[in-house]
Amino acid sequence: MKYIGLLLAMPPAILAMAFSTKSFAAGTDTEAISNQDLQAKIQYCQDCHGMSGQGLSGGYLTIPRIAGQTPKYIEKQLLAFNEAMRDKNSAVGMTTAHALKPAMRPALAAYFSSLNPEPTGGGPRDLVDTGKKIYEEGVPEANVAACSGCHGPEAKGKNEIPRLAGQLNSYTEKELTDWSKVRGQNPLNEGAAAAMKQVAHSLSPSQIAAVAAYLSYLKT
Ligand code: HEC
Ligand code: HEC
Repeated sequence: MKYIGLLLAMPPAILAMAFSTKSFAAGTDTEAISNQDLQAKIQYCQDCHGMSGQGLSGGYLTIPRIAGQTPKYIEKQLLAFNEAMRDKNSAVGMTTAHALKPAMRPALAAYFSSLNPEPTGGGPRDLVDTGKKIYEEGVPEANVAACSGCHGPEAKGKNEIPRLAGQLNSYTEKELTDWSKVRGQNPLNEGAAAAMKQVAHSLSPSQIAAVAAYLSYLKT
């Protein structure tokens, strides 16, 4: 049942692979991965990120939602962890947790981006309206551009710009508060992380709390 559910949730390209008994090679990568390896890896990711990639907060680690995230962003961040360019000082080894064969990255990115569970919310409801205003209009007096200008009007993201809709309140708050400590360590991605650095540094703690609360309930 679980296996069938999994197959139904998969995009056609992955589905084709799932029914093939042969292993496959993705792109120019010569290292093939079998469907069995892929299923095992999906389960491994689910152990932390949740059965439907919905994320988990309240424990020792805040584990972000990856469901519905853009495939390109997932791949890029997996590579950043792999190359110890993101969260290299984390108490739990993020590089080890995300170590993958290169061919696994697009396959896992396709799978998790195809899921769209209900947001788990978690932000204070009374901040949602203020957060929506910041998301849609930015904070002109602090020179902060509208988030929607890059992340899209529904916060769905595009390519390398991440989806923010439905992200856990605590994760969004943490990333924006600690931006320079946890991000921007990826030379492949300096431009993107640099644009966000200015945004993150210009927001006050209460503005961060508000925008995180708004995003935590946003469905797409
Ligand atoms: C030991 C628990 C653990 C495992 C296993 C794990 N992750 Fe993560 N993952 C995390 C944590 C914690 C973060 C957040 C790191 C941070 O705070 O920046 C994260 C971050 C991510 C991100 C970046 C999300 C974002 O919005 O920037 C992606 C993508 C990701 N994980 C995908 C995966 C995939 C795919 C797998 C399976 C190969 C996996 N993770 C396995 C704990 C885990
Ligand atoms: C100039 C374009 C731009 C603007 C404006 C912008 N962002 Fe971003 N944002 C990005 C890019 C690009 C990334 C990915 C950075 C990376 O790859 O490390 C990002 C990443 C993020 C992340 C990390 C997401 C994750 O899953 O880890 C959060 C949270 C975020 N932005 C929130 C905001 C908020 C809130 C605003 C408005 C106040 C905003 N952004 C405005 C481009 C932008």
